[in-house]
Amino acid sequence: MSYVTFNFLLPVIIFCCGIWYFQTKDDIKQQYRTCVIGAGYGGLATARYLKQHGVDFTVLEAQRTFGGIWRYRSADEENGLPPFTGVYKNLRTNTPRPTMEFADFPFPDTTPSYPHEYCFYKYLRKFTKEFDLEKYIQFKSLVTSVKWAFNQWKIDYKKTDTKERYSVTCDFVVVAIGHYNQPKIPIFKGQEIFEGQIIHVQKYKDPEKYRNRRVLLIGAGPSGLDLAIHLTNVTSRLVHSHHLHYRQPKFGLNYVKKPDVEMFLKNGVVFKDGCYEEVDDVILCTGYEFNLSFLDKSCELNATTRHVVPVYQHMVNIRKPSMMILGWLHQAEYAVALIAGKFQLPSLADMMQSWLKHVTALYAEGRKIDDANLLFDDMDQYFANIAKEAGITRVAPVLTIIRDYDANYRLEDLLNYRDFNYEVLDQYNYKRWYEPSNRSCDINI
Ligand SMILES: Cc1cc2nc3c(=O)[nH]c(=O)nc-3n(C[C@H](O)[C@H](O)[C@H](O)COP(=O)(O)OP(=O)(O)OC[C@H]3O[C@@H](n4cnc5c(N)ncnc54)[C@H](O)[C@@H]3O)c2cc1C
Ligand SMILES: *[C@@H]1O[C@H](CO)[C@@H](O)[C@H](O)[C@H]1NC(C)=O
Ligand SMILES: *[C@@H]1O[C@H](CO)[C@@H](O)[C@H](O)[C@H]1NC(C)=O
Ligand SMILES: *[C@@H]1O[C@H](CO)[C@@H](O)[C@H](O)[C@H]1NC(C)=O
Repeated sequence: MSYVTFNFLLPVIIFCCGIWYFQTKDDIKQQYRTCVIGAGYGGLATARYLKQHGVDFTVLEAQRTFGGIWRYRSADEENGLPPFTGVYKNLRTNTPRPTMEFADFPFPDTTPSYPHEYCFYKYLRKFTKEFDLEKYIQFKSLVTSVKWAFNQWKIDYKKTDTKERYSVTCDFVVVAIGHYNQPKIPIFKGQEIFEGQIIHVQKYKDPEKYRNRRVLLIGAGPSGLDLAIHLTNVTSRLVHSHHLHYRQPKFGLNYVKKPDVEMFLKNGVVFKDGCYEEVDDVILCTGYEFNLSFLDKSCELNATTRHVVPVYQHMVNIRKPSMMILGWLHQAEYAVALIAGKFQLPSLADMMQSWLKHVTALYAEGRKIDDANLLFDDMDQYFANIAKEAGITRVAPVLTIIRDYDANYRLEDLLNYRDFNYEVLDQYNYKRWYEPSNRSCDINI
């Protein structure tokens, strides 16, 4: 090799090694203005606004792709990671799509009113593509710790494939890990002697597994009710233990409602009414809980499986107000307005005051601290408040009206509520009509 070639190649080699070096070891900068944890619906919405405001940021996502709970995977793909998605085959949303849309990014008019899980996922993909967000996301990056040190956030994460550990520092952190990642699993008397299989609904994927089996469903939240519909004509017997008062529809002939579980025996279950049922499989539809255990105590939050306090406007960590924890769709714009300096938070003392007022009102209504992160009848007022404070778009009152209507109607007509279509007419009014959906998902991506 002549010197000429060598001299010519050297910069190429250095350049290529440089690329290699930056892509493998240090493709990550060490320092960002903002770190977002989670690339589900909430993280993606946040990323869009951060980009729009020109804020320097990165998104750390544990899975190898975005979409959060809406990216259904078969269980064998999970690869040792927590499943992170409770979505199952043929799941349709239980809320009409206008209430789930990103601002200024409507579904095509032709989309079903209650889209299937894959349709919603395609919607998230289209959004991510439209705003070119994927390049800001670091995949396979499981956050293991968030600490406050030297006036900055230090975030440790682990690459889920190579197991290598990294850290970044950020001025702001937005926690968008969702509230439906960690199953809530009660323990029942005698369950250790039960010989059938007990799973949480987060692991349920496909009704076929239960064909001609005797199945017990425990719980009648959204998942319990939905599985009753999915399983009634598949199982040989479907026992549904719950204490919800609602207009129970005519499920199949094999469906039987039971009160709460008293105890498990070898081949079945005794209920509080003293009756016994033999069952093969049990699916716990017992809900989800928080797991914010990666927040170090230097974050100065009290985070349990049921609540995270004290927070201002249901999201800002009062003692460390450069941390936001997203709970609902529609909070992202507020969080980013704060980061971008579009408005100032009240003083710590005033935020604490407003927090105490919230908690006092809660107790006055006979509620407990575990209800502190929930919005009851005041959702629309909440949207009005955050819009006013941050100077952001106000979530139209009609969306809360639709959401409330749907939530009540669902319990009146469980089998058919998804056969209604909704169209928003203006800030306060909507149109609703019967249209059994044979629409297909029209999102091309
Ligand atoms: C079965 C089911 C059905 C639902 N149906 C509806 C519905 O019909 N309508 C509705 O409005 N809502 C529904 N929800 C609520 C749903 O959670 C929201 O619609 C929405 O997906 C929440 O988005 P998110 O971004 O907050 O959370 P997620 O979608 O859960 O996304 C969180 C992301 O954070 C990542 N993550 C978690 N921990 C870490 C970590 N330590 N490090 C890095 N990344 C992490 C996860 O991998 C995930 O990608 C449903 C929930 C479930 C479980
Ligand atoms: C179960 O099957 C019957 C008979 O085919 C049908 O009428 C009913 O709607 C089905 N129930 C559900 C919940 O799918
Ligand atoms: C919460 O998640 C961590 C991993 O981040 C896990 O080690 C821990 O067991 C979980 N907590 C509970 C209560 O399951
Ligand atoms: C958490 O709650 C406990 C008991 O309610 C209280 O003593 C403690 O000070 C709280 N810690 C923080 C950081 O708020």
